[in-house]
Amino acid sequence: MATPDTLRDMRIPLSHGSGAIPAVGFGTLIPDPLATKQATKTALEVGFRHLDCAERYRNEAAVGDALQEALKVGTIRRDEVFVTTKLWNTNHRPERVKPALDASLRRLQLDYIDCYLIHTPFAFQPGDDQDPRDAHGKVIYDTGVTLVETWRALERLVDDGQCRAIGLSDITLEKLREIVAAARIKPAVVQVESHPYLPEWDLLDFCREHGIVLLAFAALGHGLNPRVLDDPVITNIAQRVHKTPAQVALAWAVQRGTAFLTTSTRLDHIQESFEISALPEDAMREIRDGITTNVRFNAVVGTGVPGFIPRVG
Ligand SMILES: NC(=O)c1ccc[n+]([C@@H]2O[C@H](COP(=O)([O-])OP(=O)(O)OC[C@H]3O[C@@H](n4cnc5c(N)ncnc54)[C@H](OP(=O)(O)O)[C@@H]3O)[C@@H](O)[C@H]2O)c1
Repeated sequence: MATPDTLRDMRIPLSHGSGAIPAVGFGTLIPDPLATKQATKTALEVGFRHLDCAERYRNEAAVGDALQEALKVGTIRRDEVFVTTKLWNTNHRPERVKPALDASLRRLQLDYIDCYLIHTPFAFQPGDDQDPRDAHGKVIYDTGVTLVETWRALERLVDDGQCRAIGLSDITLEKLREIVAAARIKPAVVQVESHPYLPEWDLLDFCREHGIVLLAFAALGHGLNPRVLDDPVITNIAQRVHKTPAQVALAWAVQRGTAFLTTSTRLDHIQESFEISALPEDAMREIRDGITTNVRFNAVVGTGVPGFIPRVG
């Protein structure tokens, strides 16, 4: 079991590609660029060394500014921070993949990315409109490209050294199996919604078997109802171990072998979410066996249309 002192600093070596991902990650899905920059700076100051970005969040430049400031003052070195960004649905055509990563790197002001993910397995009509819709408001999908073709283009980015590892997001176990079977470079990371109300044990077992890190987004359940943080099993453990419910849910995520992402613009919450320590084994068992609520907050796995997109700009 991890000791209280090591949990927050845990890095999971990647079995595919190269590098090691800090289990504790900060997400940058924050609508306002100024707030994004400030929250990212705070997260780095507090100790987070893993940032999750996406071209779809339209704020990579703000994350890049925060990173550059921290690098300049020497708070961090580039090789200490693990940066992920994601290819959006409109860029699945192989010829669009490298330009999309180049653009992300420019905005982030980086010359390589630690991990590049396919944001969702759904290809949208290629073009500059990130949310292409027909006259009835329905998403226009792109049937002219397969996920395996997009994956091959990501493999070439690893060959070129522009990213150290590649992976998938919002993917089902069924689709993940297909990519793992076809891949020359296997997915290093799979980013999916996961929290005590959506533990995804089957997916986690498959990931373990194939040396893939499951990176849990919405590790606190997006703060939505039914609230993971109000669950009596979680709040009872929190009282017992003198931690907050958020710290219990996040420690559980790391101790069961996943990495996690959480997000806040509040200094106290950012600090709290970093300062986690290991739970006793009986608490781990209670969360696994005592929680029966099962909720998926984000329908993106089924539709390819993420529900939490900043509307700024
Ligand atoms: N791949 C995908 O499709 C996808 C989809 C969604 C998200 N993501 C990634 O995952 C990241 C995390 O997602 P998320 O923001 O939904 O995660 P989350 O951490 O589950 O939810 C954030 C909510 O929890 C609250 N919170 C944060 N820290 C807290 C603490 N210590 N105590 C109590 N409440 C706390 C926040 O409120 P306050 O602001 O008040 O602190 C906010 O309401 C995103 O930023 C993004 O990078 C990926």
